[in-house]
Amino acid sequence: MNQIAAIIGGTGIYALPEMNLKTETVKTPFGEVTLEIAGDIIFLNRHAPEHSIPPHRVNYRANIKALDILGVKRICATFAVGSINKDFELSVPVILDDFIDYSSGRSHTFFNLLEQANGHVDVSKPFCPILSNALESEAKKLSMKIRRGGVYASTNGPRFETPAEIKAYRIMGADVVGMTLCPELPLALELGMSYAGLAFSINWGAGMTSEIELIHEGVDKIKSDMLQTMINTLSATSNGDCQPAPIL
Ligand code: HPA
Repeated sequence: MNQIAAIIGGTGIYALPEMNLKTETVKTPFGEVTLEIAGDIIFLNRHAPEHSIPPHRVNYRANIKALDILGVKRICATFAVGSINKDFELSVPVILDDFIDYSSGRSHTFFNLLEQANGHVDVSKPFCPILSNALESEAKKLSMKIRRGGVYASTNGPRFETPAEIKAYRIMGADVVGMTLCPELPLALELGMSYAGLAFSINWGAGMTSEIELIHEGVDKIKSDMLQTMINTLSATSNGDCQPAPIL
């Protein structure tokens, strides 16, 4: 591959395993974004250094616009999530295939202008099947345990959910819950990018255990395998393999 592509790191995945990084700040109409570049891979730390930006305050439009300005067409993103489907074991990364958006009050579109009034992005296939296939096969090459397919309920945060909310999200078809997929993914699709998501479950949803317990121990190997899988996925694919979502 010699096309630039991006990894967006969520909670727990804050940097590339690479010494030769160049830090760059990109100006966008929505604000400045600082990211790291290593060869053909851009790494964007969604929560900024020291995890200083909470999920509801991430400048999603600036982040995606900055990647667009740098020419990115393919994104692999990671998320720390809670499992709300008992079959979705903790610590087993999930290649996401759909989402339900429960977020609100976030700047969630680039299509605010009159001349873009017909800008309705088709999210029938929110996650790129080509990148998702590549994630699965690259994970298998590393002998990683991985799950294919899962629905992400995207909440506003920063609070966790009530037990009733978790039950409701499950009944509505979600498997995992997190606070950052939306509007990041729809914004990327609006700009013609292809997007794949790898979610890593660190707890059971509220009400599924007596209290919410986050696992942070013993997961370093899984996180580094996730990162390597995403790097290998972007190297094994190119922009032309992926189909941008239609804008209707
Ligand atoms: N809910 C929402 N977001 C999360 C959770 C959760 O249980 N775990 C990690 N991110």
